[in-house]
Amino acid sequence: MVKIAPSILSADFSKLGEEILAVEKVGADYIHVDVMDGHFVPNITIGPLIVESIRPITKLPLDVHLMIENPDQYIEAFAKAGADYITVHVEACRHLHRTIQIIKSFGVKAGVVLNPATPVESIQHIIGEVDMVLLMTVNPGFGGQKFIPEVLPKIKKVKELAESKGITIEIEVDGGVNPETAKQCIEAGATVLVAGSAIYNQEDYHKAISLIRG
Ligand code: DX5
Ligand code: ZN
Repeated sequence: MVKIAPSILSADFSKLGEEILAVEKVGADYIHVDVMDGHFVPNITIGPLIVESIRPITKLPLDVHLMIENPDQYIEAFAKAGADYITVHVEACRHLHRTIQIIKSFGVKAGVVLNPATPVESIQHIIGEVDMVLLMTVNPGFGGQKFIPEVLPKIKKVKELAESKGITIEIEVDGGVNPETAKQCIEAGATVLVAGSAIYNQEDYHKAISLIRG
């Protein structure tokens, strides 16, 4: 069954703890944490301090998506704050292989993220080093954007690339996921779906998650 990772970007930050517990109670698999620095993307959000403060609230793995320049400089802080997965953008890493090793050196699962315009070929030589590939289906920076369907063939491509290397990885999709687009992603081979507005902007989180899971 596909895993669901609610993005707290669309949660009510004045009661963040409750918002996390609410999705955990109704079957969320990961908590997706969107870290933005105002440089790599035009928005500023969460830092290690918030990750540290939500860590004791939930038993779910924290899936920390770094949309920042110079990720190497901050990996240790997010690892110590309690991240279970740290994902970094190909487009933000000058020495991607090194960055992945830094993440793993802290005992954290490593993932690599591709923007919609970045080809799957960019990770063919490092896919064997990661636990997760995250495909952006919007341009990163904001919740509530429209799904870019041209990314769908990339999901299949990542799946085939992993199979050709004989490895099992999570294939995560992030941006504009709703019950309809979720179905297309699952068919293409996605194993984890991030959803922000399609969960947190709904009245009934349980119903929202079941509709996305399909
Ligand atoms: C976008 C973030 C996403 C965002 C998804 O830059 O990486 O995780 O929260 O939000 P929705 O599901 O509303 O597109
Ligand atoms: Zn994200």
